[in-house]
Amino acid sequence: MTGFHEKNGALHVDDVPLTRIAEEYGTPAYVYSASVIRAQHKRLKNALEKAIPADRQPMLCYACKANTNIAILRLLKTLGTGLEIVSEGELAKGLKAGFSGSEIISTSFGKTPDEIRACLDADIAQFNIESFTELEQLNETAKEMGKTARVLFRLNPNIGDSGGHAKISTGGKRDKFGMSAATIMEAYKRADEFSHLEPIGLSMHIGSQVAQVEKFKPGFEKMAEMVGDLRKAGYSVTRLDIGGGFPIIYNDEKLLDLDEYARWVNDIVVPLETEIQMEPGRYFVGNSGVLLTKVLYVKETQDQDFLVLDAAMNDLIRPTLYEAYHGIRPVENLNAPKQLYDVVGPICESGDTFTKGRELPQMKMNDLAVIESAGAYGSAMASNYNTRPLLPEILVDGDKIAVIRKRQNIEDIINQESIPDWV
Ligand code: LLP
Repeated sequence: MTGFHEKNGALHVDDVPLTRIAEEYGTPAYVYSASVIRAQHKRLKNALEKAIPADRQPMLCYACKANTNIAILRLLKTLGTGLEIVSEGELAKGLKAGFSGSEIISTSFGKTPDEIRACLDADIAQFNIESFTELEQLNETAKEMGKTARVLFRLNPNIGDSGGHAKISTGGKRDKFGMSAATIMEAYKRADEFSHLEPIGLSMHIGSQVAQVEKFKPGFEKMAEMVGDLRKAGYSVTRLDIGGGFPIIYNDEKLLDLDEYARWVNDIVVPLETEIQMEPGRYFVGNSGVLLTKVLYVKETQDQDFLVLDAAMNDLIRPTLYEAYHGIRPVENLNAPKQLYDVVGPICESGDTFTKGRELPQMKMNDLAVIESAGAYGSAMASNYNTRPLLPEILVDGDKIAVIRKRQNIEDIINQESIPDWV
């Protein structure tokens, strides 16, 4: 991770010691490095620019479900990305961050009528559609509003096991996502009959944290075949959204070969003569963030030593939900003798475990530590479980520090609730 490094015996984010962030803003807290986000964006852009002609470059639509903080959205907008959204809330955040409707695409799986209305109102670039009923709903709402909605159909390419974990694999036949080629052909036919829809292409997203580049190729080939079939049937295909899913480093995984990926896009997708979109989320932000935490206690039992942190599964659910690996490091004394720990949070269930039996530099009460690669699907998936307030988010750029989300306080939580007078 380029933005996080050791200097004078302590971990820094860019030029700022994490000890200073903990002192000023408390723990637990999410801390992000703007320079890592820029570097990741550049890495992907470079690979694409190397393989694909300048006038055919894919539009990168940041899948903001990974990290929806509006400062992060704005940062990505300044780098020239568009935005992929999956809810009315994400649309509102995108607009607030300065994206125009024409830079936003909606890929949500079950679009609500209010969400469709808000998206049509903002004149978003397109709706990626998953089912006939969604198509009908969209047409009806567009008609009511006197608008025409541009539609891409999500192809289910039947590529199983295409994500880092069964719960984030989306391209298999039994997954709830997408439509078969035959269904899309039928949908294209029907959409043409709908007065307020304009079908313009296909989308695909096979999964997340897809580490093997070979997984993408059959998807591109199926898409190309489908484009051929649609055109033969007289339909127009002018835009293809080839999805996201690029992996980041959590441990020691071998990363996707982006150059090879880009070559395949160039060899298989570019010749189809359409606009091309991609939807990376995790890749831009995952390695840019850490969860900064403090050791509350070290609990020694006969069998294990537990490192009890002030961060918990409600703050970062990935280890509990996906058995996901996240690096853990002390902020100081990085070279202390090693010890085996189970690293846990203070929540009242055994699932509140970040790792078991990991060898880490010895730590003691009040020591600071970071849980690494937490910039994607960290804060975005947090909850108030155990009535624990949502954490602050802090963005660092060189020596600049900004609180981009305040720590929620307990009153914020309580004020959302009320006791009826009949209780
Ligand atoms: N496009 C669509 C249609 C998606 O469903 C997703 C992610 C993305 C793009 C972005 O995928 P990415 O480039 O970030 O891999 N909570 C899980 C990840 C869930 C991903 C859901 N869809 C995790 O923490 O690993």
